[in-house]
Amino acid sequence: MDALATLLSRRSHAALVAPAPSAAQLESMLRAATTVPDHGSLRPYRFLVSEGAGRARFGDALAATLLETRPDAAPEHVESARGKAFMAPLQVLLIASPRVGHKIPEWEQLATAACTGYALTLAAHALGLGAIWKSAPFDRGAGLTALLGLAPHERLLGWINVGQLKQVLAERPATELAPLVGVLAADGVTAYEPPAR
Ligand SMILES: Cc1cc2nc3c(=O)[nH]c(=O)nc-3n(C[C@H](O)[C@H](O)[C@H](O)COP(=O)(O)O)c2cc1C
Repeated sequence: MDALATLLSRRSHAALVAPAPSAAQLESMLRAATTVPDHGSLRPYRFLVSEGAGRARFGDALAATLLETRPDAAPEHVESARGKAFMAPLQVLLIASPRVGHKIPEWEQLATAACTGYALTLAAHALGLGAIWKSAPFDRGAGLTALLGLAPHERLLGWINVGQLKQVLAERPATELAPLVGVLAADGVTAYEPPAR
């Protein structure tokens, strides 16, 4: 797929079905994720792939972590948290792993880690797969730490669900750029003018 067309046509897909990406597709996605802008080439992230039986362990960790933060959570909420692990044939868990005390500020390292989530979804799209970035209302907790081996400075930035498209989504409506973009001028900021079509 043409690179710009890939960028412009990506949609998040919540409804995903088997089969999971092939080993070669997963490898391409992971490689793409390691090409994100990365000040100092610190690679301040790591991934865990969850599929098959591994999904149950992730589901247990999500349920346990919800109960840690909300011991009074209703059983249906706990099951809903557990169910997040089964929403796709494969998930790539994205863990931010910044170097603490490094001269590259932590926020830049988190930005790099976050870019990998986008790269994973974009690569999935380029491969004809569906993907969506999902998250829990917590990024740490004993349940997650035990499963993911989270170090104190690490946190779960969410996960990318990946699978086959259940349905092709309509094209994304064009975003109006004017409220989002300004142009620096000698005497201030002027409005962005889209080119005439
Ligand atoms: C860090 C992060 C976490 C997200 N977590 C969720 C989530 O838990 N549930 C959800 O429905 N969408 C979540 N989203 C949003 C979706 O991934 C997606 O971007 C959104 O549905 C809009 O679709 P689009 O990507 O096609 O514009 C998250 C996005 C980011 C960047």
